[in-house]
Amino acid sequence: SKTPVTVIKGDGIGPDIVNAALRVLDRLDTGFEYEEVIVGQAALDAGESEVMPESALKSIERTGLVLKGPVTTPSGKGYRSVNVAMRKHFDLYANVRPTLSMPGTQSRYKNLDIITVRENTGGMYSGQGQKVSEDGNRAEALSVITRSECERIIRFAFDMARARGRRKVTLAHKANIMKSTSGLFLEVGRQISEEYDDIEHDEVIVDACAMKLVMHPERFDVIVTTNLFGDILSDLCAGLIGGLGLAPGANIGETCAMFEAVHGSAPDIAGKGIANPTSVILAAALMLEHVDQPENANRLRRAVRSVVAEHDRVTPDLGGNATTERFTDAVIERLG
Ligand code: NAI
Ligand code: MG
Repeated sequence: SKTPVTVIKGDGIGPDIVNAALRVLDRLDTGFEYEEVIVGQAALDAGESEVMPESALKSIERTGLVLKGPVTTPSGKGYRSVNVAMRKHFDLYANVRPTLSMPGTQSRYKNLDIITVRENTGGMYSGQGQKVSEDGNRAEALSVITRSECERIIRFAFDMARARGRRKVTLAHKANIMKSTSGLFLEVGRQISEEYDDIEHDEVIVDACAMKLVMHPERFDVIVTTNLFGDILSDLCAGLIGGLGLAPGANIGETCAMFEAVHGSAPDIAGKGIANPTSVILAAALMLEHVDQPENANRLRRAVRSVVAEHDRVTPDLGGNATTERFTDAVIERLG
């Protein structure tokens, strides 16, 4: 029987790179059956009154599996971020972002293998209680995190570390200053780490973490942190291996999982046909792994890595001059 997958092509470079990923997936025997839905600006443009139309929500509820391109959040028009709203709506509490070095990129480091696990529903990033005073001179927002949110994300990180044979989990926090919220996260982290004596536990204050990631990234293994810190640190990690165009992400909940690139809709290169589709293709590999197709996931990864390593058909962000299409053709060729 077929596995239904909801596809959101997204905005900007989204349709180009998602189409590239779908072309590549077609070369594998995945059993996927796609349902395309639209959200965000694309939905408004199509005459919907909501950035998250009911039809899109229903499809995701049915499939529980989403391959997604970046979605532009219309800013300053009273709309919530579609990304934040979807993560909340489907309780996709774990945002997993692997950063694995790729041969052939011009990055400074060669053998990095870091996974950031970001709490994806609470904290400062979730945009609660945002207010600006009438005169525009005072702004406020609320940062709320619960013990159970801390517990489930930290447990997720340790369980994932164990399942993947990783050796260390680093808690990145700011408990010295944000004593209540980050303090709770650190307290829970210390408790939970006791349950995992086969995995090393480490803690680091987030600003120092950023510095250490730049100086000695090879010392990191799995990093678990709260929403906003995870947003920043995971982009930093993408930069360590050659940029946002290479970085996939998974948003995982109990009943639904959404796979996407870490980056956004890249308005500066949209419509030029030169976006690097690697991050969405690697997100598709994470999705294959999630549905228990590890051979397909590895085939996909090997094909992408060898095209990047060869370097004569890579996109401009990697120093080449290939179009999205030419790069994708090369990956397809490699899959045989
Ligand atoms: P961005 O990630 O779109 O772009 C940052 C830089 O990276 C740009 O120079 C861009 O050209 C480059 N870049 C990104 N992806 C690339 C790719 N695949 N190939 C080559 N170069 C690539 O970040 P920005 O400009 O801050 O955000 C643009 C829009 O995307 C905003 O509306 C934002 O809200 C949205 N966004 C959506 C996300 C999502 O849907 N998950 C995540 C992040 C941002
Ligand atoms: Mg981000």
